[in-house]
Amino acid sequence: MTDNPLRPGAQTKKVALGISGGIAAYKAAEVLRGLQRAGCSVRVAMTRRACEFIQPLTFRALSGSHVIVDDYAPDNPDPIAHITFSQTVDLLIVAPATANIIAKFANGVADDFLTSTYLACTAPVLIAPAMNPTMWGHPATQRNLARLRGDGVHIVEPDTGEMACGTIGPGRLNDPERIVEAALKLLDQVGRVRDLAGERLLITTGATREELDPVRFISNRSSGRMGFAVAQAALSRGAEVSVVAGATSVDPPKGVHVVNVLSADEMYKAVMKELPGATVFVSAAAVADYRPVQRAATKIKKNESLLVLTLERTRDILGEVASARTNGLLVIGFAAETNDVVINAQEKLRVKNLDAIVANDVSRRDAGFDSTENAITIVRRDAQGPLELPLMSKVEAAHRILDEIVKLRANDKR
Ligand code: CTP
Repeated sequence: MTDNPLRPGAQTKKVALGISGGIAAYKAAEVLRGLQRAGCSVRVAMTRRACEFIQPLTFRALSGSHVIVDDYAPDNPDPIAHITFSQTVDLLIVAPATANIIAKFANGVADDFLTSTYLACTAPVLIAPAMNPTMWGHPATQRNLARLRGDGVHIVEPDTGEMACGTIGPGRLNDPERIVEAALKLLDQVGRVRDLAGERLLITTGATREELDPVRFISNRSSGRMGFAVAQAALSRGAEVSVVAGATSVDPPKGVHVVNVLSADEMYKAVMKELPGATVFVSAAAVADYRPVQRAATKIKKNESLLVLTLERTRDILGEVASARTNGLLVIGFAAETNDVVINAQEKLRVKNLDAIVANDVSRRDAGFDSTENAITIVRRDAQGPLELPLMSKVEAAHRILDEIVKLRANDKR
């Protein structure tokens, strides 16, 4: 980012605008102008099909820069354009995004300049889909969109109206002004990029397993996604991150130090070992509250009509970390609730002496367990009221949790 000549004191944000091949490609010119009016510097990439709807020359004239269609083309001034183009920008926007480009992004296909740029992009990505309503509603497209949301891609939903093909329904490219608005909102958040430099986060995630015998265990529902999303988001904001992970059904993000454990006891020991040097502890794991008093050495046979299990309490890892803390360690808990979500979370915050608690209503079917999205409420000890957030990707929810951690740290330093 450099100083913005249009808004003294503000900074010029660099935006990459990708255009894929749909009838709405011409509206990308309005998106480009809107971004420029807001003081952004914009470079354009087009797919070959997009060039059949509108000439690259239009965007070259408007942006004042070479428009990249094919990075193998002899007139391309930059031999590794898909890297420089995507890794020196503050935001990548694709408008319009066709069903095809969405499918390619969702599956990591990189067979042209724009798709390679997406894969190599380190900046936030915003897409504005546009297509025929039947294509929009197709389960394949919706599946791909859900995947992209889970990957942290931001989507400006299409409008409903009459399409170029005469059909009426959802699929029309949203208003360029709305696309620019969404882009500027994201760009405002870019400022937070390295605000966790110097922090060392220790995160627990996944479910613990308490063995009954060699083939059976007691566990909780948890995919590990939320904790890994916090890890990924914290890493992108400059923190060092360690994760103690129980059983998970998703892979950890790259670059994160992961310690794998199974039981609550193993998790407790791993946390205590990793804790020295940590500055923030985030407890996203679904830890079993009880474990069998005895683990059978051999498989329990169904000889009896009634099997009685005696369970004992496990150690409350979060509670112990919070009560033993020193040196400004921030401690953040999670509360998975089915009723009186905020009241229960506030009580846990108080009883466990936490700095913040992230509550979610696990009775909702569209969020929480096994979902790539979550609707959370964050209660901070130093804030007036709970911060209730709408349904969003777990990566975005993770960023919102980290925003609150940044505020807690700032208040600590006062
Ligand atoms: N937690 C923990 N160690 C445990 C149990 C829970 O660290 N043995 C952490 C979880 O990671 C989460 C928070 O504590 O951050 C959840 O609080 P808790 O009161 O244990 O929630 P529940 O088990 O749901 O409690 P309750 O059944 O009382 O609602």
